[in-house]
Amino acid sequence: MAVIALKCPQYKVTLVDTNAERIAEWNSDRFPIYEPGLDEVVTSVRGKNLFFSTEIEKNIHEADIIFVSVNTPTKMFGVGAGMAADLQYWEKTARQILAFSNQPKIIVEKSTLPVKTALTMERILNSGPDGLHFDVLSNPEFLAEGTAIQDLSEPDRVLVGSRLTESGLAARQEIVDIYRNWVPEEKILVSDVWSSELSKLVSNLFLSQRISTINSISAFCEKTGADVARVAKAVGMDHRIGDKFLKASIGFGGSCFKKDILNLVYMCQTYGLEEVADYWQSVVRINEYQKERFVTNMLQAMFNTLSGKRICLFGFAFKADTGDTRESAALYIARRLINEQAKLVVTDPKALPNAKIDLAGFGDAVAFERGPYKAAEGCHAIAVMTEWRQYKALDYQKIYKRMVKPAFIFDGRNILDHKALFDVGFNVYPVGKPALTHLHES
Ligand code: UGA
Repeated sequence: MAVIALKCPQYKVTLVDTNAERIAEWNSDRFPIYEPGLDEVVTSVRGKNLFFSTEIEKNIHEADIIFVSVNTPTKMFGVGAGMAADLQYWEKTARQILAFSNQPKIIVEKSTLPVKTALTMERILNSGPDGLHFDVLSNPEFLAEGTAIQDLSEPDRVLVGSRLTESGLAARQEIVDIYRNWVPEEKILVSDVWSSELSKLVSNLFLSQRISTINSISAFCEKTGADVARVAKAVGMDHRIGDKFLKASIGFGGSCFKKDILNLVYMCQTYGLEEVADYWQSVVRINEYQKERFVTNMLQAMFNTLSGKRICLFGFAFKADTGDTRESAALYIARRLINEQAKLVVTDPKALPNAKIDLAGFGDAVAFERGPYKAAEGCHAIAVMTEWRQYKALDYQKIYKRMVKPAFIFDGRNILDHKALFDVGFNVYPVGKPALTHLHES
């Protein structure tokens, strides 16, 4: 919305939220989330044509177009628990819009939703006593955290789905007109609502499938001595395949991929498409396997016991350039290491506040340290969880000196110079590549 405000000075954009604290933060000079470049965008338009407010009713009343971006977490109760999307916030919002509108409006679905949600919303919205008409459109969000501003400023595509009725098409044109202010015509795709909703889910499914595919191969490489990075490079240079999202890792995290896969799996099951459901479920299964495999590799390398050993986690965010830790693979790995009675020291340039909340229940099994040098002091091992650039540039000689020997590095992101670390004295364990170790069995 901030980017829309920036690119389209002729529109007035107001963000509303029930959380007054959040809104106050957006109105202050300390924003509640870290996203590169966002501060500049918000501060340049805030108070001009971008406003943050808790006055939901008044703003619903005044708006011509409403983008609904409420969360749709995985449902944790009743039918579809653990898989289906929980649509209660969406439905509450639809009822609220209905209650406070006295003129027709365009409602845009921004949240990632299971196919045909817009239809349900349309039914609720068009059920009012005054016969007001609402057009419900789908305009899925393709931005990734950490690169949001770039993704929005130069999107690969913008997708707008509507009903193919006269009023649906007119509403669709209004949304297209917003994006035409900065997105080239050929990158704006229009479609029916259902295809638009499904395209968003399927994009995320394909991305997560690529990561699980390369992660499954990383396990095979570790057994056979091949190097997954070389394999990925050779495979990715085939332009039909492409080189993106082929980085082996500790497993994908974030608030989107797992949730979206499970959503589709659940819908497939509902339609009796068991084979299709199993196929996509296996993408999640490989992801769980990859996280667990990382922990067992650590355990085996460190003489089959982690009890009482200090392990430093480099990074806790689900990826670099964000403070977000939702579904972070680091969280799973941290829990499992604590389970093995290890003592953790967590460091991360942006995610420490969230890490503290996530690990609050573990008492003195976990310590938090902002600086990586201090964090690694007195540790038996470092495990790289997040691909923060700054971890590549550290003085590992200095770090090595202050660690317990034999010192281990498990590079869950394959970002470090493994040969150099080995030369410093570390036993180095990358993902999907041969380990470099000084510990030879005699
Ligand atoms: C993802 C999609 O990339 C966005 O297009 C989409 O709009 C968004 O979900 C959403 O549905 O809102 P995001 O979750 O922010 O974006 O982050 P990604 O960059 O996709 O990374 C997801 C996870 O995959 C991270 O844990 C990342 O470290 C991991 N990953 C990514 C790998 O392990 N290997 C790779 O090669 C790439």
